[in-house]
Amino acid sequence: MEKQKTITRNSFIHIVTGLILGLVAWIWIKITNFQTEQENSLEFRHGQDIPMGISFFEKYYLYRTKNSVRAFLTKCTHAGCRINTSTGSLLQCNCHGSQFDAETGKPLKGPAIKPLQEIECKFDNATSLWVVRLKPIA
Ligand code: FES
Repeated sequence: MEKQKTITRNSFIHIVTGLILGLVAWIWIKITNFQTEQENSLEFRHGQDIPMGISFFEKYYLYRTKNSVRAFLTKCTHAGCRINTSTGSLLQCNCHGSQFDAETGKPLKGPAIKPLQEIECKFDNATSLWVVRLKPIA
C-alpha cells in the first residue's frame, strides 16, 4: 500500500502566510512603480521669464544662467528632506545641514554625498515654453 504524504497544520499556515506576504509585496511594488511612472510623466511649463539664478517650485527648482536652464529635484540626497533655502547659488538643507551647488547639484558639504537629481528640462519651440518633467536624467 502506498504511503500518502501529509502536510501538517503548521506547514500549511506557513505556506499560506508566505503566499499572502508575497502577494502583498508584489501589489506594493506595482503600486509604487505606477506612482513613480505617473509622477515622471507630469509636465510643468514655464515661460521665458524665468529669473536668473534659482527659482523654487515644490518638487524641483530651476537654475537659469545666461545660456541654459537646468532643473533638479529639491529632495535632499541625504534623507529626503525638501530643500527650499538658498544663498546665492548655495542650497542649504535645513534638516542636517548639507549644502549643494545649485547650478550643478553637487554636494559641497555633508552629510549628503550624492548630487541632487537632475530632471528633464527642455525648451519647446512650438510653444516657446520650458517644459520640465520629474523624470531623472541618467
Ligand atoms: S536630509 Fe538633507 S542633510 Fe539630511
